[in-house]
Amino acid sequence: MTTHIHKLFDLTGQTAVVTGGSRGLGLQIAEALGEAGARILLTSRKEADLQEAAAQLQVKGIDTRWVAADMSEPAQVQRVVDTAMNLLGQVDILVNNAGATWGAPAEDYPLDAWDKVMNLNVRSIFLASQAVARASMIPRGKGRIINVASIAGLRGSSTMKTIAYNTSKAAVVNFTRTLAGEWGPYGITVNALAPGMFPSKMTRGTLERVGHDVLAARAPLRRIGDDDDLKGATLLFASAAGKYITGQILAVDGGVSAVLS
Ligand SMILES: NC(=O)c1ccc[n+]([C@@H]2O[C@H](COP(=O)([O-])OP(=O)(O)OC[C@H]3O[C@@H](n4cnc5c(N)ncnc54)[C@H](OP(=O)(O)O)[C@@H]3O)[C@@H](O)[C@H]2O)c1
Repeated sequence: MTTHIHKLFDLTGQTAVVTGGSRGLGLQIAEALGEAGARILLTSRKEADLQEAAAQLQVKGIDTRWVAADMSEPAQVQRVVDTAMNLLGQVDILVNNAGATWGAPAEDYPLDAWDKVMNLNVRSIFLASQAVARASMIPRGKGRIINVASIAGLRGSSTMKTIAYNTSKAAVVNFTRTLAGEWGPYGITVNALAPGMFPSKMTRGTLERVGHDVLAARAPLRRIGDDDDLKGATLLFASAAGKYITGQILAVDGGVSAVLS
């Protein structure tokens, strides 16, 4: 007895929490999960942005709630998970997407910037995964965790000058593999997306400084990412179509990480 491919990718009846879901990649990921049938809880710090993002998804018929929280604060991470359990009843899919960066040469890099980046990009995803697993995934014997890493976590860089960011994303890569190893027996898959260059508030400065065309030319596919490019990989990791995939890091980068530049 096999399952029809549409059913394998269908998320009807499932729930998803998307951190950093108010804009950029998180909003694209939330839209993909919602369009596939999941009920969504968005979280980020700014209420106005969350309201706008939720309205954008609701217009498409996606059942969307939101809660404002700073994920770099451990107590607020727990509050997000408590809210998710109250509003959604269960969490089937957790997308650890909220992330930040800071630019400075390594020799001048401020300690508070290092801590800020690491506490959001690494510590918060550990805390969110732990809280969601304890509250919902382990008791139910199933769950999907999708971490948003970056191709910046796969290799070093001599030009980015974002030492904490690159370090944090490499940590996300091995956090993903290790958690997959520990939580596979609970029926929880843990995978990561490693996006290349996508236009967002985070990359606006780089796009202006380096130039859209230069960045596009670095990719074998000769363009940067668009508003649909993460949707397919997200749905694969979130749905029954990916039920035998865990501990994997999937670059969605137009081929940048596959070639020597
Ligand atoms: N864009 C790219 O090319 C690219 C490439 C590789 C990886 N990524 C990764 O993709 C993820 C999303 O990035 P993006 O490009 O979409 O950036 P973005 O447009 O700056 O979005 C970041 C999201 O995270 C939220 N956020 C920031 N700090 C937070 C905090 N302390 N607590 C809770 N939420 C917080 C932001 O909302 P508030 O500011 O309101 O909190 C926003 O919703 C990040 O992990 C990033 O590292 C991006």
